[in-house]
Amino acid sequence: MPGIVIVGVQWGDEGKGKATDLLGERTDWVVKFNGGNNAGHTVVVGDEKYALHLLPSGILSPGVTPVIGNGVVIDLEVLFSELEALSARGIDISRLKVSANAHIITQYHRTLDKVTERFLGKRNIGTTGRGIGPAYADKINRVGIRVQDLFDENILRQKVDGALDQKNHLLVKVFNRRAVTVDEIVEELLVYAERLRPMVADTGHLIAEALGRGEVVVFEGGQATMLDIDHGTYPFVTSSTATAAGAASGSGVGPGSLDRIVGIVKAYTTRVGSGPFPTELFDEQGEWLRKQGFEFGTTTGRPRRVGWYDAPITRYATRINGITDLVLTKLDILTGLEQVPVCVAYDVDGVRFDEVPVNQTEFHHATPILEYFPGWSEDISTARTFEDLPQSAQDYVLALEKMSNTRISVIGVGPERDQVIVRHDLLD
Ligand code: GDP
Ligand code: IMO
Ligand code: MG
Repeated sequence: MPGIVIVGVQWGDEGKGKATDLLGERTDWVVKFNGGNNAGHTVVVGDEKYALHLLPSGILSPGVTPVIGNGVVIDLEVLFSELEALSARGIDISRLKVSANAHIITQYHRTLDKVTERFLGKRNIGTTGRGIGPAYADKINRVGIRVQDLFDENILRQKVDGALDQKNHLLVKVFNRRAVTVDEIVEELLVYAERLRPMVADTGHLIAEALGRGEVVVFEGGQATMLDIDHGTYPFVTSSTATAAGAASGSGVGPGSLDRIVGIVKAYTTRVGSGPFPTELFDEQGEWLRKQGFEFGTTTGRPRRVGWYDAPITRYATRINGITDLVLTKLDILTGLEQVPVCVAYDVDGVRFDEVPVNQTEFHHATPILEYFPGWSEDISTARTFEDLPQSAQDYVLALEKMSNTRISVIGVGPERDQVIVRHDLLD
């Protein structure tokens, strides 16, 4: 079982970092294949809490080789400050490999991200402001700067010149910003070139060799299915392929190498930023859930929007990703509810939809059809087997499993590494 993909089922922050970390001890490689420092993964190891943005969560496990794949967009300043912070805490960062084909986020991407959002006004996406969308737009427009360009100053100059050609018109004439010079960008990037050089590799080749030797490779997705550029709630999405297919294209391996697809899903739902969210709560129950679940962003500190579990979304994610196993996280957060609501279908202007509607306007109009399950009041944070859970918590999990068409292999009952119930080994 060498190739394992971790993907988010909902709108992010499901606990992907913890799930990746959990596999760390028995994993040889962890590859980040999409996104950039828009991600925020909190991993708790004993008394230590780590907030990772750009680096794969596997960096925390001593035996793992962490990889930043070609599908990632890299802000070099963030890369090195994250590496320095981890190093200062005693984490060995020397094994990190970075794809020569990954794209670079520069200051003009960050600026464009912010001004575009401002111009969108009420229709804004609520991006993280990290320059993610503009960097991917340049990649698709074929005016992006790649990691390998840093090692040929002549080429770098030409590419930056090409990228700035149109951008300066846009910045000055449309957004009323100052023009950016080729020199300042080249200088900004070259500061990091020599430190980056030893990490740069043909990562697709390294991963293929590792898989050939039978080593375990975890492909760690950032963001989630409903934020995927193709399959999410467009345009309220991120700009990369956050679904399982992205693991192949974003790291340079064939899809046949992806043996198991693990979907991470929270026992309720959260969303950061704008866009439709059928089960969203606006009342005091929402306040309770946000507080109980500590639902404030790791990257931006923004309060997350919260709502009940949405079964059609899990079914949709299962289909789009080919999910083989689910990890149900944060079950402990629901402790204390008399009844636990679950969205089983939608009402769209008086018509019942059992699945996520393909039409965006319909999804915007969807209100949840809820079913209520008996709650539990016992503390479940020390449960380590399924049978340790109160009967009603077991019944809730079994009901979600049935609605999702996939087995729930792992259940999270707290933020710590060992606060899990393993029903089926993910590496088996
Ligand atoms: P990611 O972006 O998917 O990696 O998720 P985040 O790290 O942004 O958010 C998940 C949060 O939930 C983190 O603070 C985790 O420490 C925490 N967490 C993960 N699993 C569990 C769980 O089963 N129970 C509780 N209480 N917290 C969890
Ligand atoms: P992790 O990996 C939750 C959201 C932003 C915004 C939209 C586009 O921690 O689950 P972007 O900056 O990517 O262009 O923003 O996507 N978003 C996330 N929401 N978790 C994330 O990552 C996210 N990464 C981006 O809030 O709505
Ligand atoms: Mg997160």
